[in-house]
Amino acid sequence: MPETAAASSPDWAGVQLHVVTGKGGTGKSTVAAALALALASSGKNVLLCEVEGRQGIARMFDVDPLPYEERQIAKGLPATPGAAAPDGSPRGPAGTVFALHIDAESALLDYLAMYYKLGRAGRALDRFGVIEFATTIAPGVRDVLLTGKVFEAAKAGRRGKGVRQYDAVVLDAPPTGRITQFLNVSDELAGLAKVGPIKSQSDTMMTLFRSERTAVHLVTVLEEMPVQETADGIAELRATRLPVGGVVVNLARPHELDADDLAEVADGATEVEGLASDLAAAGLDGSPDELVDVADHLLRQGRDHAERLALETTQRALVDEFEVPTYELPRLAGGVDLGGLYELAAQLRRQGMA
Ligand SMILES: Nc1ncnc2c1ncn2[C@@H]1O[C@H](COP(=O)(O)OP(=O)(O)OP(=O)(O)O)[C@@H](O)[C@H]1O
Ligand SMILES: [Mg+2]
Repeated sequence: MPETAAASSPDWAGVQLHVVTGKGGTGKSTVAAALALALASSGKNVLLCEVEGRQGIARMFDVDPLPYEERQIAKGLPATPGAAAPDGSPRGPAGTVFALHIDAESALLDYLAMYYKLGRAGRALDRFGVIEFATTIAPGVRDVLLTGKVFEAAKAGRRGKGVRQYDAVVLDAPPTGRITQFLNVSDELAGLAKVGPIKSQSDTMMTLFRSERTAVHLVTVLEEMPVQETADGIAELRATRLPVGGVVVNLARPHELDADDLAEVADGATEVEGLASDLAAAGLDGSPDELVDVADHLLRQGRDHAERLALETTQRALVDEFEVPTYELPRLAGGVDLGGLYELAAQLRRQGMA
């Protein structure tokens, strides 16, 4: 499947804002980080943003907690000298991944400073509890502040003093259940601002979010609930006219047995005694009884593995029916360290996602 994905995947090259959502715990943060590295490996300067206030990026990249300030955290993989990109073009130097941890309170101060020229007076507002008011009480305002900051980073042609220009922004976004509401700032603000700077700002944001310069990718694992949630998420995004990107199937189990062996194990056709004597013949130490125990354990594990793979196959067929570009990342044994992130990034690149 990874081989076919590259051929059928569209070109995300024109996408400025990659939004990565998915059911909780399926690997949104991991995939967002891997995608940022993959884009950087294709020579782009990328900003990886998080908005959930959990410092996941800092943990993944093994750096100190991020401030509300853009930080360089990694380089894309350097191109192999002389190697061409999958499309045949020569590879340039690797780009850089910057990271930004966005919190609503800082974003509000930013916003006040920018639009109302409050400057340092804005900071003083904190003491009067305005910030707490705006971010915990006014409905929807929190999301709008976070989304607004992401928009600022992603919008084109921004090259002011001390402001970096990014080729792409990757957002480690809220989960599928909240993503449409999160991006649909015009709805959130409908009751708050019908005219004025906030209204026109939200219109400009929606123009970007609804355009081909944005792609909302959904991460899933091959289990019933997350796949169903992905289907619902795609439908909801489409109903709101937000651009559905790709589906990233994460944590896919490796196929350790070939189809025949798998069928045999699943059917219970392998005899415990037979396997035990094979183990003895292969030189495994142990009394006959112990070897039978080992064989029994192995067969049970094999059956379990076969069952899970069968379930994954069923769910993969459902994912295929979404008719969106699909990418697949393996479950890395022992979890994801920085090296693992680069490995996942390389897979995404090979499959044509970046
Ligand atoms: N391909 C993978 N192989 C092995 N472990 C993985 C893989 N992808 C993610 N994980 C691990 O699974 C856990 C959950 O991943 P992650 O934090 O990226 O999910 P999330 O969707 O962002 O979760 P949350 O909803 O809590 O934000 C982490 O411990 C992560 O290291
Ligand atoms: Mg996360």
